[in-house]
Amino acid sequence: MGYVEAYVFMFFIATLSSFTIGDPQVPCYFIFGDSLYDNGNNNDLVTEAKVNFPPYGVDFPDGPTGRFSNGRNIADVIAELLGFENSIPPYATVSRKDIVRGVNYASGAAGIRDESGQHMGGRISLNQQIARHAIIILQLIDLIGKGSVAPVQEHLNKCIYTVAMGNNDFINNYFFPQYYNTSSLYTPEEYAEILVQQYSEQLSKLYEFGARKFAVSGAGYAGCAPAMMARYETNVCVDAVNYAVVQFNARLTAALVDLESKLPGAKFIYMEPPLGYSNDFNVTDQPCCKVSTTIGEGQCVPSQVPCNERQNYVFWDAFHPTESISLVDGAAVYAAMSPFYASSTKLSLPSEELLISDA
Ligand SMILES: *[C@@H]1O[C@H](CO)[C@@H](O)[C@H](O)[C@H]1NC(C)=O
Ligand SMILES: *[C@@H]1O[C@H](CO)[C@@H](O)[C@H](O)[C@H]1NC(C)=O
Repeated sequence: MGYVEAYVFMFFIATLSSFTIGDPQVPCYFIFGDSLYDNGNNNDLVTEAKVNFPPYGVDFPDGPTGRFSNGRNIADVIAELLGFENSIPPYATVSRKDIVRGVNYASGAAGIRDESGQHMGGRISLNQQIARHAIIILQLIDLIGKGSVAPVQEHLNKCIYTVAMGNNDFINNYFFPQYYNTSSLYTPEEYAEILVQQYSEQLSKLYEFGARKFAVSGAGYAGCAPAMMARYETNVCVDAVNYAVVQFNARLTAALVDLESKLPGAKFIYMEPPLGYSNDFNVTDQPCCKVSTTIGEGQCVPSQVPCNERQNYVFWDAFHPTESISLVDGAAVYAAMSPFYASSTKLSLPSEELLISDA
């Protein structure tokens, strides 16, 4: 099966599995990421990196929510496939009782490096997302631990953690020399090296905080995003960007193998971003909405009418995928994470022998 067929096949699985009812396949799901996963954490920040206005959310039941999409984003799709009744709430508005099922810390423009995205204004870097997770853990110790740590550790060990960072360390750092000096300090190889080193330390911190089941996505091939082609004044993919991303993803893959061997009980699944999609998505280089080239570069201009044939488009705005593409990508992450939920599915369906020996 080629990757195109594989994606179409997984799209079917996604559609079918969304009818599953009952308990989720894991008790909790925590989300660390950037705008591809953000579901409202930037709404109250002073930043260009927020999208809580139409036409964002045109296909979402609640309208514009801060999701960088016309509809559901990847985090929504993964949560749905895992069997959660609702999306995992953003840290910005999560209620105390809901933190048991997980929290979404993702933030548009955020990076592995603290300075990434700073020219756009406020954003919650991965370091800050991890600090927020520490605050949530203290609340869990109060809420489900009744003051003791052990039951909370046990709970946190069972959760799935998706971590998807790196895009803004390229788009809104290395490949924006107007605002950032990293490209004059490091070669793409050196930059990949220091990024992955920092990322490994951040993932190890999450391990210290009880995370065991990690799905880590590589950075996307942003050289093919319409906004990057516009920034470089070309209508073909920007090879220099994709080359740097390849350097990063290769080192990340190796680093995850290394972390898994060093951190007892941890499992790291690496998700390689796709290079393309099925021919059904035949508009690959144009965004569906009318986009800005200045404020909020590549984002939809507020209140403009978007394209009608959204199911044909890979890109919703000039950086972010349509809901149709998130369904494909989310299904791919879900399928790759099967080692994390297969065993818990079995646990929730006790075998007859187990029932008999209990009696
Ligand atoms: C690069 O920029 C950072 C701020 O982002 C600054 O702290 C540092 O001094 C700069 N380095 C050089 C060599 O210009
Ligand atoms: C994409 O395919 C649709 C039919 O599914 C067609 O109507 C449309 O013209 C195509 N667009 C492009 C840009 O090829």
